[in-house]
Amino acid sequence: MRLDKFLSNMGIVSRRELKNYIKKGQVTVNGHAVLSSDIQINETQDEVVFCGEKISYSKNIYIMLNKPAGYLSATEDNRQKTVIDLLDERRKKMELFPVGRLDKDTEGLLLLTNDGELCHKLLSPKYHVNKKYYVESECDIEKDIIVSFREGVYIDGGYKTKPAILEICDDTKKAYLTIREGKFHQVKQMFRSVGNSVVYLERVEFGGLALDRNLKRGEWRFLTESEIEQLHNQTLNRE
Ligand code: URA
Repeated sequence: MRLDKFLSNMGIVSRRELKNYIKKGQVTVNGHAVLSSDIQINETQDEVVFCGEKISYSKNIYIMLNKPAGYLSATEDNRQKTVIDLLDERRKKMELFPVGRLDKDTEGLLLLTNDGELCHKLLSPKYHVNKKYYVESECDIEKDIIVSFREGVYIDGGYKTKPAILEICDDTKKAYLTIREGKFHQVKQMFRSVGNSVVYLERVEFGGLALDRNLKRGEWRFLTESEIEQLHNQTLNRE
């Protein structure tokens, strides 16, 4: 692969900007300063260092974002802010997309990736990937709703939801709900179906990954190798 393509694919620097860094001697391959941006490199074997930082090749990028309210789970929109706007200029160029959607007013764990295959699997009902939400509701949540949600409730014009786990907090207007599917506005619809309504919603877990509480709202970080493996493991057992 060409060096300039490699560095722009990795979101490090655009092909045009790279030339200036090369002139200043800030790019090395296997310890030697590079003289031209179009040299061929072996992206899996050569050691590329850009401004002192070793750049490892990875075909796919996986990001955990702590989504704030007010952002659309989309890659672009003419009028409204999207979750991609929360990334830095480098990552904005990487064609990442959200793994599923959180409503504009929902906060919490949202994964972003360019791995279409994994994304597809994580969202497929065949793989039963758990999503856990923290819910604040308008009215107290009665204990018998635990059974209703376990057995399934009717939403969305007659669709019966799959078994879900409801854990009511000491403050009975608050709860955690774990679901394994992702129908449109599912949590809000489930609460509506039992005569209650959601006033605040935050996703706290996805596919066995917990929201990293070190991330402030709007902040993001790369997933670690073991977190990526954990996500892949979620897609091993299909129905
Ligand atoms: N369920 C909802 O109702 N909204 C979300 O954003 C996610 C799940």
